[in-house]
Amino acid sequence: MRAIEEILIRKKNICKTVWFMRQAGRYLPEFQKIRSKNKNFIKLCLNSDLSSEITLQPLKRYDLDAAIIFSDILIVPYALGQDVRFTKGLGPVLSNFNIRNFNSFNNLEELQKKLRPVYDSIKKVRKKLDANKTLISFVGAPWTLLTYMFGLKKKDEKLNIEKFLKEKKIINNVLESLTEYLCLHINNQIKAGANIVQIFDSWAGLLQYDDFHTFCIEPNKKIVNFCKKKKIPVICFPKGIGKKYSIFNNLVKPDGINLDYDINPIWARQNLGDVVFQGGMHPRILLKSENLIQKEAKKYLDIFKDVPYIFNLGHGLVPETDPMKLKKLIEFVKRYK
Ligand code: CP3
Repeated sequence: MRAIEEILIRKKNICKTVWFMRQAGRYLPEFQKIRSKNKNFIKLCLNSDLSSEITLQPLKRYDLDAAIIFSDILIVPYALGQDVRFTKGLGPVLSNFNIRNFNSFNNLEELQKKLRPVYDSIKKVRKKLDANKTLISFVGAPWTLLTYMFGLKKKDEKLNIEKFLKEKKIINNVLESLTEYLCLHINNQIKAGANIVQIFDSWAGLLQYDDFHTFCIEPNKKIVNFCKKKKIPVICFPKGIGKKYSIFNNLVKPDGINLDYDINPIWARQNLGDVVFQGGMHPRILLKSENLIQKEAKKYLDIFKDVPYIFNLGHGLVPETDPMKLKKLIEFVKRYK
């Protein structure tokens, strides 16, 4: 069995494994080359020849234990009919979301047809990827997708969100539908050849009290339970929730949990129970000297040395990362005893 899956399923500390969020992307010159010729990012994700090639780029350079399919969490809103654009400096820009259209959306065939290139890309990658390496699929958690779909991440964030959070019925409605679509998308990615799934709840940190339970815990739990029923190993990443990581872990019970860079790893080790730990180190540490990078990496490896731990970061690699420093870090992790 591939090491990452074995760690997630058996919860045993069998060997040192490593992969990185955003390991294929803007810090790699070979990615930049393809990207500069493909101005439309969503179209690039949906070009299965190119997206499979991009997925494999970091594995040609580095001794990583997994590939993560090159796609985006916003591919699902796109497939549901929203216009999604990535503009330099602005982040993702989505066309206005019409709740009426969303409520009348029931064309699951059309949804899957639009996402088919992602599944084709997974098939292509799995064919070329070494048998002992894991292919990771992913989705955005319903709440995080919703923040983008409703434009909550645009401007005037606080005001927007407070007013918006009063619309509980609408929110629940959308979250429930999204949960269904995401389970379908996960299942199709696994059928195409992906081995595990990671759920990104990047904006879970915006939620408090009851809203945290209803809009973050509940949808994540439903998706995790779906994965468990299908025997798909699943890692959750509820970013920015601080000490609520412990509540999240107790209630959602994923196989693995990715720590963000704000979480004190010693606290996590002591307070999160029976779970496989992943990540935690700040991605910006990679912009520092090699000495400092190794010191910080060693800190995480030492803290989690007796428990199952997959080395990764507390968020995605930043575009300024030096590919050589990443290489040295991977070698350091692999050498760690
Ligand atoms: O991790 C990987 O290497 C796989 C590919 C992947 C991308 N996005 C490619 C991408 C994954 C797993 C994602 C997840 C994603 N996308 C998240 C969750 C993780 C997180 O960052 O919190 C979110 C919130 C998004 C939405 C998104 N996509 C944003 C906010 C942006 C713009 C800002 C940014 O971080 O780059 C994107 C664009 C995007 N997605 C790029 C890549 C390689 C950059 C596109 C470019 O070249 O301009």
